[in-house]
Amino acid sequence: MAILPILEIPHPTLRKRAKKVRGIDKSITKLAYDMVDTMHEAGGVGLAANQVGQLWRIIVIQMPDEEEARVYFNPEIVKTMGTREVEEGCLSLPGYRGLVNRSVWIRFQAIDHGETTVKFKAENLLSQALEHEVDHLNGILYTDHLASHEQLYRIEEQESQPGDEEEEITSDQNSLDTPASLKIN
Ligand code: NI
Repeated sequence: MAILPILEIPHPTLRKRAKKVRGIDKSITKLAYDMVDTMHEAGGVGLAANQVGQLWRIIVIQMPDEEEARVYFNPEIVKTMGTREVEEGCLSLPGYRGLVNRSVWIRFQAIDHGETTVKFKAENLLSQALEHEVDHLNGILYTDHLASHEQLYRIEEQESQPGDEEEEITSDQNSLDTPASLKIN
């Protein structure tokens, strides 16, 4: 188990398409569980392998109301229904959140941690997280779904440089943030 560094934009690996996992061997399993540790450490709801520099189709999800993380290999969104506007952020774009359109519900299919093929309908946060993470595997970031630049919010200042006092934050900078349970990464 290990905490892996999370890549941030504009790292090129975030824009690449990840390859299908052909066999769930020891190294793929280790990667998946290192991703779970990394997601937990970062306090995220999800993480895709691209974000730790590995171009394999692996995503992990931690639903706030579930004890164990979900691990999915070769995840596929088989069907989508409707659209709804939701706010999200991403561990690869720290300090920002944005409004994007996501499906009302999806049908999802993947191989789970027990190497069983699972198929289910997902809605609400789970559906949003699965769409966000599968996008990562295709080199897509949530900012690609913004209707306009104004829909991207800065939610925290970059760490200030010594001597850089130009921009002081006095407003309630967290007002656009959502509860931790809605963080999508
Ligand atoms: Ni993300």
